[in-house]
Amino acid sequence: MKNDNPHYSQFSLEFYRERASEYAALRQVFGNRSHPQFREDRDLYRRLAELATPGPGLDAGCGPGALEMSYMTELGFEMYGLDAVAENIEVARSLRPEFAHRLQVADVQEPLPFDDGSFEVVLCNAVIQHIPREVALAKVLPGFARVLRRGGVLQLMFKPGRGVETAVDGAYGSDGVFRSFVLYDERELLDALAALGLRLIEEGSDGRMAGLLYFDDNKPMRHCVFWARKDGPREESSQP
Ligand SMILES: C[S@@+](CC[C@H](N)C(=O)[O-])C[C@H]1O[C@@H](n2cnc3c(N)ncnc32)[C@H](O)[C@@H]1O
Repeated sequence: MKNDNPHYSQFSLEFYRERASEYAALRQVFGNRSHPQFREDRDLYRRLAELATPGPGLDAGCGPGALEMSYMTELGFEMYGLDAVAENIEVARSLRPEFAHRLQVADVQEPLPFDDGSFEVVLCNAVIQHIPREVALAKVLPGFARVLRRGGVLQLMFKPGRGVETAVDGAYGSDGVFRSFVLYDERELLDALAALGLRLIEEGSDGRMAGLLYFDDNKPMRHCVFWARKDGPREESSQP
């Protein structure tokens, strides 16, 4: 990994490297959800599938369980996954042999190994929390915007706030483990995405789930998730 990353970023990758199988077996419980139609994690994917056109999708930082890839596959998307930790990709390939050939080791801070406009959806769940804010804004978000097709949808999940927060994660070990996470200001992310041609999908008068959605994980820490659509007329599809 890059040597100029702060220690929390390096440490996070080491953390996942040592716990790939353990993480794959964990089930996050989403509590305190901000929208009545957001009852369980799958509700996010059902709604995303309604908002997007079925086709190729990318899960950037898919983790060892590649769970969201499975959800989206069931909903008609041909999912590709990447993760910076080789051990995660190894575990994900063994758990999900059906799309093992579409999983690869890659770092979202580097140019993504896909052509422009490859995907109808890009998911990035709980990944930028491990990346310095400046790098996420300057490199990671532009990378996602580039590989999305016009009309395609980005799902971004992150911990809202400012700065870096350290919390005890009770999911690991008998006493839990201290972990640090980069927090993101919602407005700053939306402004950065707007400059890249992606706009927040707002909740309409029908009350269907959209806009800024919030929930707690089991640490508990607050999460925010939203969908943003890439502007512009649809283009000819090409394979990733
Ligand atoms: C909290 S886990 C989330 C995994 C999965 N997205 C999920 O929601 O279950 C964070 C994941 O991000 C990956 N990750 C962290 N930094 C990354 C980077 N720079 N590029 C790609 N993946 C990264 C980690 O290896 C880990 O699998």
